[in-house]
Amino acid sequence: MEASVALSRIGLAGLAVMGQNLALNIADKGFPISVYNRTASKVDETLDRAASEGGLPLSGHYSPRDFVLSIKPPRSVIILVKAGAPVDQTIAALSDHMAPGDCIIDGGNEWYENTERRIAEASKRGLLYLGMGVSGGEEGARNGPSLMPGGSFQAYENVKEILHKVAAQVDDGPCVTYIGEGGSGNFVKMVHNGIEYGDMQLISEAYDVLKNVGGLSNEELAAIFDEWNRGELESFLIEITADIFKVKDEYGDGELVDKILDKTGMKGTGKWTVQQAAELSVAAPTIAASLDCRYLSGLKEERESASNVLKEAGLKDDVGLVRSGIDKKRLIDDVRQALYASKICSYAQGMNLLRAKSNEKDWNLNFGELARIWKGGCIIRAVFLDRIKKAYQRNPNLASLVVDPEFAREMVQRQAAWRRVVGLAISAGISTPGMCASLSYFDTYRRARLPANLVQAQRDLFGAHTYERIDRPGSFHTEWTKLARKSGTGVGSLN
Ligand SMILES: NC(=O)c1ccc[n+]([C@@H]2O[C@H](COP(=O)([O-])OP(=O)(O)OC[C@H]3O[C@@H](n4cnc5c(N)ncnc54)[C@H](OP(=O)(O)O)[C@@H]3O)[C@@H](O)[C@H]2O)c1
Repeated sequence: MEASVALSRIGLAGLAVMGQNLALNIADKGFPISVYNRTASKVDETLDRAASEGGLPLSGHYSPRDFVLSIKPPRSVIILVKAGAPVDQTIAALSDHMAPGDCIIDGGNEWYENTERRIAEASKRGLLYLGMGVSGGEEGARNGPSLMPGGSFQAYENVKEILHKVAAQVDDGPCVTYIGEGGSGNFVKMVHNGIEYGDMQLISEAYDVLKNVGGLSNEELAAIFDEWNRGELESFLIEITADIFKVKDEYGDGELVDKILDKTGMKGTGKWTVQQAAELSVAAPTIAASLDCRYLSGLKEERESASNVLKEAGLKDDVGLVRSGIDKKRLIDDVRQALYASKICSYAQGMNLLRAKSNEKDWNLNFGELARIWKGGCIIRAVFLDRIKKAYQRNPNLASLVVDPEFAREMVQRQAAWRRVVGLAISAGISTPGMCASLSYFDTYRRARLPANLVQAQRDLFGAHTYERIDRPGSFHTEWTKLARKSGTGVGSLN
């Protein structure tokens, strides 16, 4: 690099889909940026795009040293490479040329403990570190993502001006906020992705019921999802789903959606979410159901042979029967309500997982702010997130979204429709694991007394685990078998 060239405000290393688009976004907002990628061709590609997308202030570099030295100190470098070892390798290549006070920002979907390890390693060299969740895919990265930076507050302050400009903008500000210390930014992004799994599963179930019980065509489905996108369900995922139903198959008759193999891929953030829920003893059944469904979808060949072995279990005639008695208009309205109520339960699970982790790690997460920064830019963006934001503003210590007075009223209003949809699907043999999980979660949570008393009695009987009583303090153990045999005067009769 020539000495006369002005230094860049920020740097970005890793120019695949996300990095390239985020770099162009940053340059587009007027911040001169240096870019670097292990493979040189991606640097050239990015330079070409910067030129063709309006002569953006972006300089390309082909060695880690030139790249780092082209940035104005204290330097901020965003890394967007594959999570895991590639991040460590990229840090190793860059940090040799960085000086104390410089900052590394990992924007990948990284496991939060890796970020915590790297924060500690960076601090030994005087470097600051941020683990920043980035959501919105290619389009979001280019035009406005939702950003979830966590780690060094000073590092956040150094790039705050940039992040505020490149993030998606909604009515109440940019979709970025300082999340908290340590790996909190990555953790929040991970749960965001878990919630995204839940949303996608619930939408696919709504589609399944409308298509296979209601008999709706793709054209009708497109119209319904378009209509839903003008109401309480308005969201990116509903919007793109409507579009998907409209795309014709270029190789044959009908729509492309019907030609897609029914096997869902995944990259791991949903699994981490469910693992963390288990670690923290937080129930997240809707998110877990969506993960299980991805696993089951992967067993395509097994499912095909099972569908032959269990033909009779398919309830084909019943579907026909159920269908013949169906009021299509009412079914559509019921499914809309079931989807909305199921979604609330899924978000309640995600938020409660975040709360448990925040308590464990002292992150002091602000749930209203998290809902706010998800209102734009990210995959789960939705009008309904504004209501979640307000619920947490009303009560930051809300035990669960479902008991916020407004959401509670909505759940109660929708429960009849919700139960009808789940009941109908069950009797038609169409699985709706996400909606069922949400409904069971709701029904379990809202009951003051559960059959857990019997489980406690069983545990005490076979393992002397003791139990508590509802009418006096202390822990108790009973010689159940001895007492039962002694008092049992004979087997009772049901007649
Ligand atoms: N794609 C999305 O929609 C999306 C959305 C949100 C978050 N993310 C996250 O953002 C990050 C980047 O995603 P992406 O889809 O843009 O890219 P990616 O496919 O995950 O990774 C490709 C990039 O990683 C680099 N890389 C791989 N191994 C490397 C190594 N050992 N050393 C140095 N560089 C290495 C590649 O460099 P070469 O060109 O030299 O191979 C390339 O720049 C990931 O953590 C991803 O999970 C992705």
